[in-house]
Amino acid sequence: MSAEIVTLTVNGRERQGLAEPRRTLVDFLREDLELTGTHVGCEHGVCGACTVIIDGAPVRSCLMLAVQARGAEITTIEGLEENGELHPLQEAFRRSFSFQCGFCTPGFVMSTLALLEEDGPLDEEHLRHELSGNLCRCTGYQSIVDGVRLAAELLAEKRGAK
Ligand code: FES
Ligand code: FES
Repeated sequence: MSAEIVTLTVNGRERQGLAEPRRTLVDFLREDLELTGTHVGCEHGVCGACTVIIDGAPVRSCLMLAVQARGAEITTIEGLEENGELHPLQEAFRRSFSFQCGFCTPGFVMSTLALLEEDGPLDEEHLRHELSGNLCRCTGYQSIVDGVRLAAELLAEKRGAK
């Protein structure tokens, strides 16, 4: 199969690479664009480690082909910091010890980012339900829930300060 040119926007920058039609988006991001912050675990849509934001919605990049992402706007974990400062969500995970080995963390952060943009209070049951598609083998999840709740507070403070 011959490789095709794939052009997309990643973290605000236009990027281009050559991908065979069967190449997954996660492999394209990690190996062709060298954005290795997105992790790849199960490779069949179960663990959530590969979650990135595509056109505003969280997507498992192991289930999408690179050629399907042509023209898309993608945000990966590398796109969250600003001027060397952690995004409030990253800061909240750091302060709440929401990771141990960190393998699952980029996926949790990207899934949570979309969730925190929804309006309304962050109800714990809803939060746990929304994050149930991301698996963590280390933490037992409570510290991740704590991190997301702190992130909601930090983001509200940041919005209030503007
Ligand atoms: S690597 Fe994509 S969901 Fe597990
Ligand atoms: S921190 Fe190790 S898998 Fe979640």
